[in-house]
Order: sequence, then structure tokens, then C-alpha cells
Amino acid sequence: MAIDVLLGLQWGDEGKGKIVDVLSGRYDLIARFQGGPNAGHTLEFDGAKHVLHTIPSGIFHRNALNLIGNGVVIDPVIFLGEIEKLRVVDDRITDRLYISRKAHLILPTHRLLDAASEAAKGKDKIGSTLKGIGPTYMDKTGRNGLRVGDLELRDFPERYRSLVDKHLSLLRQYPDFQFDLPPLEAVWMEASERLRGMQLVDSELYLSKALAENKRVLAEGAQGSLLDIDFGTYPFVTSSTTTAAGACTGLGVAPNRIGQVFGIFKAYCTRVGSGPFPTELDDELGEKLRKNGREFGSTTGRPRRCGWLDLPALKYAIEINGVSELMMMKADVLGDFDRIGVCTAYRYNGKEVTHLPYRIDPELVEPVYTWMPGWNCDLSGIERTEDLPEELMNYVRFIERETGIRIGVLSVGPDRRQTLSLS
Ligand code: GDP
Ligand code: IMO
Ligand code: MG
Repeated sequence: MAIDVLLGLQWGDEGKGKIVDVLSGRYDLIARFQGGPNAGHTLEFDGAKHVLHTIPSGIFHRNALNLIGNGVVIDPVIFLGEIEKLRVVDDRITDRLYISRKAHLILPTHRLLDAASEAAKGKDKIGSTLKGIGPTYMDKTGRNGLRVGDLELRDFPERYRSLVDKHLSLLRQYPDFQFDLPPLEAVWMEASERLRGMQLVDSELYLSKALAENKRVLAEGAQGSLLDIDFGTYPFVTSSTTTAAGACTGLGVAPNRIGQVFGIFKAYCTRVGSGPFPTELDDELGEKLRKNGREFGSTTGRPRRCGWLDLPALKYAIEINGVSELMMMKADVLGDFDRIGVCTAYRYNGKEVTHLPYRIDPELVEPVYTWMPGWNCDLSGIERTEDLPEELMNYVRFIERETGIRIGVLSVGPDRRQTLSLS
């Protein structure tokens, strides 16, 4: 059996959580493969809203199991907090949750290092979520990190201390940065002790057994392709492989086991944090998108930057991920615009180009727009594809033609039920 992958094609927050939840009924296992609590995946159903950071978005389906893969980084305190919240909804949640022993641990000092390094960067800061993501992946690739499986080792306290000592010496480079570590450590130790008691697995073996038993598996990405450590707008990126290849390394799955790659994008663009964003709207149109789309970060609450859809960037993301089906989110947010801009090319070095250049800083690229008529109607109550306005279907068909990939799902609101299949 193959494993399907679902991931974001823009700068994150495309609506991955919602769609994973919608699709979970069709899968036996949902597996997160990278990122950590920098993610905020929102699910809405039965009049309630849930935001997940580390836990896969299949957790509300009683027939699906959920796995946190080796590519994920876990902060035990945030993770336990999520579990406590979910227990109110379902007290058997941890029965359906498995955690890779090879997933790396975010220590309190990783978070301090993240904060100190961002503060020192001043106006050049990445705009990190300050969850310790960068420093934890640095320790992973630097071969210093601690993993979930280390919690089971007798000498874990010594390993922990030795890494913290390294971090403290690094923190001395930031003499103005104040912190009080002992209280943070006390909560962390308690949470990691509870994490140790959960269902820890050698996830690559667990997965390969599941696939051998013909279980249907969906890999859930976090962040988006333009935040990928290699292919994103470096250095304004996250520290993991957010693209389809990350599902292989983050779960221990061979490339020839990947089946469908579902690519999710918003009908416009958003970005939270720093970094280039060619189609960003700094005017009242951008403000309107933010207001209509409630574009505030699910993890940090920061206002998201908003702009028109960027096709060169979308095509690039489709290419590097091998997307087999597109899913377009938040079409309802464009419901009261007379005309809708789509960037179809960039003016770059005096020429018009349709690919994504090495750098897309505002002084280097200028978007070239095609204008489409808006649909000027409220989509949020539409339940049948036949009832979708013609202007919206023209927008859909235009994107399909430009990208060469079918849009199979159209989302018209945050609720599970506000999801239409397109044929
Ligand atoms: P994720 O990180 O990709 O899972 O996305 P987030 O949850 O961070 O951000 C997406 C936001 O848009 C959430 O608040 C969702 O509830 C909401 N959302 C998802 N799909 C739609 C949609 O089709 N229309 C509207 N209006 N909101 C949506
Ligand atoms: P989901 O999974 C949107 C952004 C941050 C910052 C940069 C680096 O909800 O789509 P980090 O904390 O990883 O060091 O931050 O990446 N970022 C996200 N933006 N959605 C996310 O996740 C993000 N995770 C990180 O704002 O610009
Ligand atoms: Mg999000």
C-alpha cells in the first residue's frame, strides 16, 4: 500500500489541519513528518474550534491512529498541554497516539536560544514563532540533540545536563538576554516524564508494518513549501524539509512508497513573519483580505501579511513536490471583491519571467497581474458544486490550466462541512 502526502504549497496556514481532518475518515493512520509546535492546525466541527500544534489532525476520528514521526521536534510541555485540552473532548485520545523514539526533544534552553538569537538579529529577524525550532534542528544536524527515546535511558539526566551546559555557554554570547531557567526546567521535567510513559515506537518499523498490512496512511505536513529549509525563501524559512521529500526522511518511508501528493493552497496568499512576499498588499485590499479571512496566526496570534495568488510560486511548489491533486482553500474570503488579481509572471532583470528566480526580494521582482472578475457572493452556505458561481469556476479552471493540475477540493469555510469535491 502507498502512503499519501498532504502538504502546504505557500507560506503555511493554507488549511492543512482542516483538510486532514476531512480526509481522515478514509485513512487508518495519520502521520506528522516534520516541524513542531511552530505549527498551528485549526479544525472546526460541531460548533467548536480546535488548534493542534504537535498532534496530527486525524486525532478526532476514532477509527484512525495518529503517529508523530521521527522528523518532528517535540516540546513536552506544549505537547502535554495539547493533550490535556483534547482530553476534555475525548479521554481516550492517547490510546490512538504513537510517538517516534527518534523524534527530537525541544529543551527549555532551545527556546531561550531561539529568543536570544532573534532579539540579537534586530530588524533582520526571521520572525520565528520562538518555539525553539531552529536551535533544536541545529542540535539534530550538529549531532548533539536529545531524542524521545533517550528519555528511556538511565543516564538521561546526565545527557540532559551536558546539552544544557552547552546551551548555557552559547547563551553567554547574549549578555543582555535575561532568563530564569529553573522554573522552566521543573515543568519540562514533569512533562517529559509523562511523555516517557506514552506509546513510544520505532516509528519507521511501525509504519512499514502498517503498510504491509495494507493500512491506508496519510502523511500530514506542517508549514509550507516556501518555508522549506532548501527551497523556501532562505533565510526566512523554517528549519525542516516541508516538501514531499520530508515525508520520506521524517517517517522512514522510501520514495517509491509515496502515492498521491495533495497540495493545499489558499485562493490568495498569506505569510506570517519576515521575508519576501512579491504579491503582498500593503493597502486596504490587504486589510480586507486579513479581515475577511481572519488572518491572524493560529500559534502566535500575529496578523498575517496578505496578498494575491502567486502562480510562479505555486507552480514551483507543485514541481518540487510532485503534486498530483490541488485543493483550494478559503475561496469564500474573496466573496466581495469586484476583481481578483493573480500574479502570472514577474518582471525580473528587465524581462518577464514565469519561473521563481533565485531571489524574490521586492527590489528584484515586480509581479505581473492577470485580473479576473470576482464572484461577489457568499459561498459559505453552498453545498453543491452545481451552485458555485461561474466566475469562481472560471478562476478554478484558470489555475488548473496554468498549473496543469486538477483542483479536486474546494473549501468555502472553516467548518468540516464547508468542503466541496470538484470533478
Ligand atoms: P494550517 O496551519 O494549514 O492547518 O492552517 P491554519 O489552521 O493555521 O489556518 C487556516 C485558517 O483558516 C484556520 O483558522 C481555519 O479554520 C480557516 N479555514 C480553513 N479553510 C477555510 C475556508 O475555506 N474558509 C475560511 N473562511 N476559513 C478557512
Ligand atoms: P503551519 O503548520 C505559518 C514561519 C514563522 C517564521 C518562520 C520560521 O501552521 O502552517 P520557526 O518558528 O519555524 O523558526 O519560524 O516560519 N512559520 C509558520 N508560518 N504557518 C506555520 O505553520 C509556520 N511555522 C513557522 O512565522 O516566519
Ligand atoms: Mg497554521
